[in-house]
Amino acid sequence: CGIVGYVGGRSALDVVLAGLRRLEYRGYDSAGVAVLADGGLAAAKKAGKLANLEKELADRPLPSGTTGIGHTRWATHGGPTDANAHPHLDNPGRVAVVHNGIIENFAALRAELAERGHALASETDTEVVSHLLSEAFSSCGDLAEAMRQVCRRLEGAFTLVAVHADDPDVVVGARRNSPLVVGVGDGEAFLASDVAAFIAHTREAVELGQDQVVELRRDAVTVTDFEGAPADVRAYHVDWDASAAEKGGYDYFMLKEIAEQPKAVADTLLGRIDASGSLTLDEVRIPASVLREVDKVVVVACGTAFHAGMIAKYAIEHWTRIPCETELASEFRYRDPILDQRTLVIAISQSGETMDTLMALRHAREQGAKVLAICNTNGSTIPRESDAVLYTHAGPEVAVASTKAFLTQLVACYLVALYLGQVRGTKWGDEIQSVIRELDGIGTQVEEVLETMEPVRELARSLAGKNTVLFLGRHVGYPVALEGALKLKELAYMHAEGFAAGELKHGPIALIEDDLPVVVVVPSPRGRSVLHDKIVSNIQEIRARGARTIVIAERGDEAVRPYADHLVEIPATPVLLQPLVATVPLQVFACELATARGNEVDQPRNLAKSVTVE
Ligand code: G6P
Repeated sequence: CGIVGYVGGRSALDVVLAGLRRLEYRGYDSAGVAVLADGGLAAAKKAGKLANLEKELADRPLPSGTTGIGHTRWATHGGPTDANAHPHLDNPGRVAVVHNGIIENFAALRAELAERGHALASETDTEVVSHLLSEAFSSCGDLAEAMRQVCRRLEGAFTLVAVHADDPDVVVGARRNSPLVVGVGDGEAFLASDVAAFIAHTREAVELGQDQVVELRRDAVTVTDFEGAPADVRAYHVDWDASAAEKGGYDYFMLKEIAEQPKAVADTLLGRIDASGSLTLDEVRIPASVLREVDKVVVVACGTAFHAGMIAKYAIEHWTRIPCETELASEFRYRDPILDQRTLVIAISQSGETMDTLMALRHAREQGAKVLAICNTNGSTIPRESDAVLYTHAGPEVAVASTKAFLTQLVACYLVALYLGQVRGTKWGDEIQSVIRELDGIGTQVEEVLETMEPVRELARSLAGKNTVLFLGRHVGYPVALEGALKLKELAYMHAEGFAAGELKHGPIALIEDDLPVVVVVPSPRGRSVLHDKIVSNIQEIRARGARTIVIAERGDEAVRPYADHLVEIPATPVLLQPLVATVPLQVFACELATARGNEVDQPRNLAKSVTVE
């Protein structure tokens, strides 16, 4: 969910709505706002996207005020209805609360409130908080203090923002787990889940820590812990400029983000490879002596980041000879994995907030493992709680389906693998030197791919009426196939599956029927030509059974040409680096298919960009 709060001299409604627009990627099941005006509190909320709320506000305007809060929701407790949308008010509507997360003991608190005569209007855990806050405020008369009292009673993960009509120049926030950042302006202050909500107004931010309460006034921001003791906070300057979070002439953020990939990749490499071809990763603060002792690497992540992690396994094992497993964060955490001081856990997350990944890293650290985060969001929870972080420099990614973040995660994984090899003195063969050189220039190859995408778009449009598309790959092409299928599910709502091409004959081949589109990612013919030859056989097997083959292969790979109904050529790269160029056509393919099917590219149904619940 996305949260915004504002207190200052402007129309709170305007500031809050503009902020919510920037946060809509965090959830768009419903949206709502509350403003303090004329001694009272006025609120509006609506199921569906922010546009529904805006329409409602145009029909029934709220009185204007300079203190307000807003929310855009990804539903957890209760369906995406008007009633369940945030903010939630107490009865008689003096307090408004917005919330991100889950309050686990809400049933007990709700029963307690009912016993004291409170009538609750919704099914949500959030409404419980507004009633508790209202009670606490009645006895202490101070909203921040009331928030501290309530937070001490709440269990679970939550971020809360509240206003009270009897304290009209104050917005109060509380943070446990999910993020909350303060923006400090001149005579105004902002609260939001992400700096994107306020960078149009101020770049001065203060990051709240775990279990802190903040009181926002026009000229003062006060942060305490849940007990009321002054808290340490980190102030920082946001260096993303506001235009980075704008569409900049593209129809969708996703198109812009696909196009930004060469730069994102180059930015992530910048300053990390020196002229002599060795790596300087100063951010990886885990001492070399510890890295030399590592005897196992475990990569944890979710969604697209998990696919980057799968590719990391091939690179880490090949270049460092350290055993490496990659596991879905949500599975890893709860199966009692074997970890100790000699395990290095790599947690990959664009947002740095994904709760499954956060829980996995906490578990790993409790077992004594060292955790290195690969993350795109400065100051987010996952890097804060890790031993070290390697930031990807993709810039803000707004479209829900990840593209440029994925490519930069791959770059970061390669850098970590090569760095581990460097620190441990792995035999530094010619192969590795040439890989580093080619990695350093890979942005140009990504650019080349982007320049040749028109036939892919045409093909996508021609397949808009299909129900199923399959994806095959081997070696690092296998995670690429999984990523291609995930993109298609997320965006085009089509049945799409990725398979290891070698596994095809053990079952999935039964799915092949006449004219079924099958995308095949062909490994580079150089280096590991055995793999290449095997996949050429796999293509023949499916073609013999009627499949329509869409082959992604290295330019000049003549061996596949006779079996490709559609051939998509990509530049030659070292075998392990191929995902950086092979994934791009699959992103373009999914984006175009989604458009052709009339889907909303940036905000696919049922999804959210950062999922801050388990
Ligand atoms: C959500 C998004 C995915 C993303 C995954 C992990 O499910 O819809 O696109 O890959 O979370 O996100 P993270 O921020 O941890 O990389």
